[in-house]
Amino acid sequence: MFFGRSCSGSWFLPVYPPVPLGPAYLVLGKGPPPKERTLPVSDNSANKMWGGRFKASPSEIMEEINASIDFDKRLAPQDIRGSKAHALMLGDTGIISKSDAAKIVKGLDQVAAEIEAGRFQWRGKSEDEDIHMAVERRLTELVGEAGKRLHTARSRNDQVATDFRLWVRDWIDGADAALRDLMMALAEKAEAHHGTIMPGFTHLQPAQPITFGHHLLAYVEMLSRDRGRLRDARSRLNECPLGSAALAGTSFPIDRKMTAEALGFDRPMANSLDGVSDRDFALETLAAATICAVHLSRFAEEIVVWMTPQFGFIRLTDAFTTGSSIMPQKRNPDAAELVRAKVGRIAGGLQGLVMVLKGLPLAYSKDLQEDKEQTFNALDSLRLAIAAMSGMVRDMEPNPERMAKVAGLGYATATDLANWLVEKKGLAFRDAHHVAGRAVAEAEAQGIELDQLSLKSLQAIEPRIAADVIVELGIKRSVARRASYGGTAPQNVLKMAKSWSKRLEKERGKG
Ligand code: ARG
Repeated sequence: MFFGRSCSGSWFLPVYPPVPLGPAYLVLGKGPPPKERTLPVSDNSANKMWGGRFKASPSEIMEEINASIDFDKRLAPQDIRGSKAHALMLGDTGIISKSDAAKIVKGLDQVAAEIEAGRFQWRGKSEDEDIHMAVERRLTELVGEAGKRLHTARSRNDQVATDFRLWVRDWIDGADAALRDLMMALAEKAEAHHGTIMPGFTHLQPAQPITFGHHLLAYVEMLSRDRGRLRDARSRLNECPLGSAALAGTSFPIDRKMTAEALGFDRPMANSLDGVSDRDFALETLAAATICAVHLSRFAEEIVVWMTPQFGFIRLTDAFTTGSSIMPQKRNPDAAELVRAKVGRIAGGLQGLVMVLKGLPLAYSKDLQEDKEQTFNALDSLRLAIAAMSGMVRDMEPNPERMAKVAGLGYATATDLANWLVEKKGLAFRDAHHVAGRAVAEAEAQGIELDQLSLKSLQAIEPRIAADVIVELGIKRSVARRASYGGTAPQNVLKMAKSWSKRLEKERGKG
């Protein structure tokens, strides 16, 4: 019976004689036994690749659960790159003839061209179970005997480990450039708005006035660390599993350094079991991606909030908003909302892969096929989120009047009053804080803002307060004074924005 043979039995010797559980309905105590059902069998030809041992064809359900072609098709470019390097190495080491190697390489180029042009004829899942089998099948159709020699000294286990590494590495390179672009967009906007005042929040309550440019540059810093994390992941990822073969290496005199170098890896992986079975490179990339997605989601949330008429800080054009089918006045920040939500898939991908890998014995198990779909989904989502963010940043127009107006609300310059008393009158900060607190209470009682309090009212609280304090309570002075390194003062922000733009521009030139 088909399912019988795929059931490998227990991994450990049972301590007690195993207790037969009987049919599920007996255990669950529910209803009559289900009717015996035969599983559909697709056809009676044994599978070409591993068909030697098996007479019957896999059932359709087996095919469905076993095949990965639907989602690993996209590894075709990486698979073909890997196979070309492998074939050339086999030729160079004399494991196959040079002319066979040349035929294989030519054939693989043709397969690549067919796939790219959408001309590739995919077969059913019993034959084209995954991308590796599909490519090899077509190669052999095209070049005959030579094609059958490609899989010498290789297994799909090291093949897929190599392909997946190459894919993740390509993704990192693309994400690095996309993040750089987003940072450039932010730095440019920050430069333009280095002096645009907005309220700064803690607890989402008005805290102190800041500049819009400063706020944007905070994300530039975060994204720069995200890029750093991805680059770190890349450097650890960049070792080549090809040549690990099924799990134990191979008896053929392969040259692993040659294939590693041809594929742009720093070196071959040093242990074949590790080579075929670990996916920590994907985990690490997903972890870095998750952190980046968290950063983007925070910014996305701010865009959503800033877009509300209640805040009214920014405007996005039709390019990044949608209307409502029923409420004509609506302008909805859908793109920002979706960036905010994508973190679910991305963090989910990380979590999912952790679950796939935990407890897996060495070396390869088919569980590892479950590494790809969720990684693709997570990393595709992040790519899209980064691109959408770049678009929104470039599209976003702040409303400086509105932001300045609310920046002064909520007694946001109370700290400036306290600081003035410390600097000018030598009060201890605790005492100054108390005085400023009383001034806020007084302004609140009069229903006005701090800088509207009369000197008389202020002096009634603290006689040492002099007329020159009033100017300090305006938002312009408040931000200008915060010139400590990393602070919000417009001059700081301008300098930082310019230096980021220069650095990123230079990198782009090199990249
Ligand atoms: N499609 C498989 C995967 O993604 C390729 C490796 C299959 N190896 C095997 N021993 N069945 O993992």
